[in-house]
Amino acid sequence: MRYSKKDMKIRVDYNNMMQSVLGKNGVSDKTLNAMADEAKKAFEAVEAGKGKDMMGWADLPYKQNEIVADILDTAKYIRKNFEYFVVLGIGGSALGPIATFQAINHLHYNDLKKSKRKGPKFYVEDNVDPERMAALLDVIDVEKTMFNVITKSGSTSETMTQYLIINAILKEKLGDKAKDHIIATTSREKGNLIKIAKAESYKTFYIPDGVGGRFSELCPVGLLPAAVTGVDIKAMLAGAKFMDSQCNTANLKKNPALVLAALQVIGMRDGKNVGVMMPYADGLKYIADWYCQLWAESLGKNVDLQGNKIDGVGQTPVKSLGVTDQHSQVQLYTAGPADKIITFIGVDNYRTEVKIAEGCEDIPSVNFLCGHTMNELIQAERKATEYAITKAGKQNYTIMLPMLNEYTLGQLMYLFMLQTSYAGAMLNINTFDQPGVEEGKNATYALLGRPGYDEKRAELANAPQKQAKYTI
Ligand code: PA5
Repeated sequence: MRYSKKDMKIRVDYNNMMQSVLGKNGVSDKTLNAMADEAKKAFEAVEAGKGKDMMGWADLPYKQNEIVADILDTAKYIRKNFEYFVVLGIGGSALGPIATFQAINHLHYNDLKKSKRKGPKFYVEDNVDPERMAALLDVIDVEKTMFNVITKSGSTSETMTQYLIINAILKEKLGDKAKDHIIATTSREKGNLIKIAKAESYKTFYIPDGVGGRFSELCPVGLLPAAVTGVDIKAMLAGAKFMDSQCNTANLKKNPALVLAALQVIGMRDGKNVGVMMPYADGLKYIADWYCQLWAESLGKNVDLQGNKIDGVGQTPVKSLGVTDQHSQVQLYTAGPADKIITFIGVDNYRTEVKIAEGCEDIPSVNFLCGHTMNELIQAERKATEYAITKAGKQNYTIMLPMLNEYTLGQLMYLFMLQTSYAGAMLNINTFDQPGVEEGKNATYALLGRPGYDEKRAELANAPQKQAKYTI
């Protein structure tokens, strides 16, 4: 391991949520302290649930030695034998691989010369836009490609569509050898992909039953694609484990995931219905996407844990990239409605330093930049935006990474998974189901004639019809 725990501990700073900084717009110590009991109960519920039912993800940093060894061997084989690696998956079966790839690898990884890359060119196909599939086929050579079909349910239309298309092309070109170009990552027993994988003798990795899509980055869903491009997956898991140890207390003031969950829940109850995630690092751009799914699907619920219908809870997550979106969204965040909590993510040490060149000596309002570095500029802009948002009385907190690497990424992801679980427990909802997503999936099956969906087809046919007068 290249990182020491001491040097690579991520820090959570929630000063700008509190009245001491924000005055009346902030959370008082009294309000936060009043959450202590609720937070303790949430902590205890999460602790009791770890490793059980849909909280199998909490075991992932601890119980995967054999699987990790298999993944590393497989990744080595892929690196040696293939020029392209393509993930076919969607939602939780794609967002984690995309986030990790972007966070750890060179930001123009696919454009690097082969000798400069640690693995094959890497693509994640998480849509069924026909133009995108055609475009992929224009840039890869399927005969030199390993496809990783990832679906927990083994039946998601988008993923199975991609599989059918790719499998047909592979079979046409390679005949019986097509099977050597497909790895299935799916449930051990449920769904169709496992049946296909067995029938076709695909190399298969399993998604444990208790690991839902959005909590699956630290199982083979995320670890295989990561390892293929040379990501140190052991360090990711070690980071997650370290964050688990940092969150091993019911004391709100000492458990970073618990205090962030409590502050968000206080905010939601006070009408803060929007959660903005604004990382100041291109590497973390897709962590915001991954987090959006985690937060939205987990907390957006209208039934409580006792099965009662409740008013919808949850918070709309928005991704925003610092500094890019300073120039598109920050006006709203400062002057718009106080219905948001902004999460800044900063990085102490970027993995490279770029100096700003000398020039424009006769234009002081440009020349002041000279002699500084881009590193200084991005830090100044993060602090300045934090200042502007705080000055405008808007709640925000900052998570600082000493550096972006596998160990801090593992910490960050585990922090968010715990934060989400605590928040769900505080809201008294099922954090781990997604009936709204299932509804859409079932309607798609019905529309496309999947057997067994006649009732849903009839329901769709009887739904209120659109009227021409409302279409211009
Ligand atoms: O978090 C979830 O459960 C969902 O968003 C799924 O990840 C997504 O629908 C894809 O499902 P599957 O992996 O079964 O194809």
